Amino acid sequence: MIDRAALAHHAARLKDADLGSLVRADGWRDGALVLEAAGVTLDARRQRLDQEAWDALLEACDAAGLAGLRADLFAGRVVNGTENRPAIHAALRDPARIEDAGLKAAITDAKAATAAFARRCATEEALDGFTVERVVNIGIGGSDLGPRFVWDALKAFRRPGVEIRFVSNLDPADLEDALEGADPETTLVCVTSKSFTTQETLMNALAARAWLTERLGEEKANLRFAAATAAPAKARDFGISEDRVFAFEEGVGGRYSVWSAAGLCLEIALGPDVFARFRDGAKAMDDHFHDAPWAENLPVAKALIDVWNRGFLGKLARCVAAYSSRLEKLPFYLQQLEMESLGKSVSTDAKPLPPGWGGQLVWGGRGSDVQHSFFQWLHQAKDDVPVDFIGISSMAQSGDERATALMANLAAQGAALLDGREGEGALGAHRTMPGGRMSSAVLIEELTPESLGALIALHEHKVFVEGALYGLNPFDQWGVELGKVLAGAILSGDVADLDPSTRDLLVRLGLQR
Ligand code: F6P
Repeated sequence: MIDRAALAHHAARLKDADLGSLVRADGWRDGALVLEAAGVTLDARRQRLDQEAWDALLEACDAAGLAGLRADLFAGRVVNGTENRPAIHAALRDPARIEDAGLKAAITDAKAATAAFARRCATEEALDGFTVERVVNIGIGGSDLGPRFVWDALKAFRRPGVEIRFVSNLDPADLEDALEGADPETTLVCVTSKSFTTQETLMNALAARAWLTERLGEEKANLRFAAATAAPAKARDFGISEDRVFAFEEGVGGRYSVWSAAGLCLEIALGPDVFARFRDGAKAMDDHFHDAPWAENLPVAKALIDVWNRGFLGKLARCVAAYSSRLEKLPFYLQQLEMESLGKSVSTDAKPLPPGWGGQLVWGGRGSDVQHSFFQWLHQAKDDVPVDFIGISSMAQSGDERATALMANLAAQGAALLDGREGEGALGAHRTMPGGRMSSAVLIEELTPESLGALIALHEHKVFVEGALYGLNPFDQWGVELGKVLAGAILSGDVADLDPSTRDLLVRLGLQR
């Protein structure tokens, strides 16, 4: 149990301290709050912390039993109590630390199977005379957000002549857009679903099959389907042929699944070698998280800062501004990773969490675009929330003045939030930016498969550490169930218990008389 009272005492002490002075006065920060690992650098010097508070936060790692939990995670022991499962995403990068030899072998075999299939997709073998040119990934949540984000980020590394389109939404326009201009002969549909029961995914997969069957006939259409799932029997029942069903383990959480067969569309479009580099980058961060002492441990430091801001300084939200078009989808990816993992109200032993305790609301967008939309709020609203500025440091030196200006904007925003400025003249009050607002910079040197893998693994482990500090289970997601049940009830006409407003809505939508 962490000593919340001691930390609250430090927060009370620092709450109204002048942040600009704190940041400038304190030489200690240069050593303690700038951390580097696996090609990712965190500069957290603009956080409302001093050495005493930081030391108390570091002590909280031991109090939370983090070392034991981390050992359980890497060994593949149960860390998801409500589902009685391990969480084996790190083992997908490198199964060496997993205790269960059968699982180790299964992971290695599964990796070999997807890599072999991805290689076949680059030849005319996979589609009986045609090379795959368009992969349509049908999936939602973790079966969509990871692949979608990584594809955007690593497009420059793709195999020539191949692209991925993503379908997640039940709006028929989503599939229509994904199939627009597609040659059915060279299209491969990947149905990505851990459970293989998700309504959105199955309905879209049926629609995609109808599209292919209409154009190519049943036999050729079937050849153009592959599945990635933890329920292979269900995928086979759906009609996907055995040699195209790629399984992953129940211990791979949906939002942690991009490293598994759920990344099949990426492995096909990027090629297995690039995909292996992506996993290697994550492994470098895994090794760091596994080995580094708390004070030098990047995911631990990031978690401590986010818990400090949320649990002790009362910052409900955190903004993630990615200053890179290719990283544009990072905030969406992090929304699921963090909010589905940490959006809980009870502890691992089912006790209510204290008020203000538990994960942050994460939102964000692409810099510098967001400077021209919601950054006004960040600079001048009465409330303030910390910002993570995500950047690619080599862009500043790329020789393209636009890239240089983009990085200059990243740097300027953090400085403006910190120092603010007193407005002058008649409109002085309107022009005043109060400053004293926290931010961190998270930089990668270059956007490569390795650095992207490390950036994602940093956040995965950060969330794990936060779960440990908050004392909650970051690997379940019971909160998403009720809406699914009610949508099913509505479609089957079972609406009697619904409130009048919802029933009226159903009438307006023509779903009820
Ligand atoms: O509804 C949320 C969720 O359960 C996520 O956790 C998961 O990533 C997503 O649905 C998709 O689930 P599946 O991969 O089983 O289709």
